Amino acid sequence: MTKIALVGAAGQIGTPLSLLCKASDIFDEISLYDLVHVPGIATDLMHIDTKAKVSGYLPDNGGLQKALTGADIVVVTAGIARKPGMTRDDLFKTNASIIRDIFSEVAVTCPNAICCVVTNPVNSTVPVAVETLKKAGTFEPTRLFGVTTLDVVRASTFVAQALGGSAEPKHFKVPVIGGHSGATILPLYSQAHPAVDLHDEQLAPIIHRVQFGGDEIVKSKQGAGSATTCMAYAGFRFVKALLSARNGNSVVEEAYVYLPGIPGGKEIAAQLGVDYFALKIEFGKSGATRVLPIGELSENEKKLLDVALRDLKTNISTGVSFMSA
Ligand code: LMR
Repeated sequence: MTKIALVGAAGQIGTPLSLLCKASDIFDEISLYDLVHVPGIATDLMHIDTKAKVSGYLPDNGGLQKALTGADIVVVTAGIARKPGMTRDDLFKTNASIIRDIFSEVAVTCPNAICCVVTNPVNSTVPVAVETLKKAGTFEPTRLFGVTTLDVVRASTFVAQALGGSAEPKHFKVPVIGGHSGATILPLYSQAHPAVDLHDEQLAPIIHRVQFGGDEIVKSKQGAGSATTCMAYAGFRFVKALLSARNGNSVVEEAYVYLPGIPGGKEIAAQLGVDYFALKIEFGKSGATRVLPIGELSENEKKLLDVALRDLKTNISTGVSFMSA
């Protein structure tokens, strides 16, 4: 019996994510929570011929609590999205309190659930979630993840597009470390499998596109928002990986985590000077089992890592100070 709770399910990421979850036939129960529309979305999804029972809860009558009760996995996409001219950081003022309120309920209702944060700015909203759970005394670092899978998806897609030819994007496995915003996103093409035979000048525009891929969508949507379907795809891919690990398979995926609480993370936190970082994580039945080493970086990647860490430190402290204010 596996239940997933999607918080923010009436949004433009939440709704396609709910469809992917229902269509996948890997859940027994899917609960949707949002401020509007979710009972209707649940009814709509219930016409699909897969086993999951879908329920929609609005805020009235303890709706969030009902949606979270018994959840094994919680995915939070709630909050506002970017418009042209905005950075992800501009979303923080609104989205930070949304995250705090959701995680205050998670702490009480499903403290053992594996939680995934999609709501931007992930670099700062994850620290808000962590601080909220710490305050409630229920924080378990191996069960809380900022979703950075879209950066990994983009790193494969954009290098395949740049190389042309017949190579499928998924053919390229490219680790992406750092955070989920601009220069904090660091695709490691020096560690790509198969090897990507391009020099630094050729890689520069590809790296830039991965780092600022979100802006490409914001611009193209002309005021109608930011990434929705590709983010839902990425979020679902991450959830599927968590479930696969839960079923006993060996799984490695990138995620943005609180390093000191995960085996192998303390050393990396000390080396980098940050407690939060996205990198390869090994997953087991109940969450992260180990942080994998970053590995060898090229000279150019070392320089980009310095820039990423500078920005990341500011983003992290924004999240942590929100909760200590
Ligand atoms: C993305 O990477 O596309 C998302 O985080 C949305 C955004 O605001 O860029």
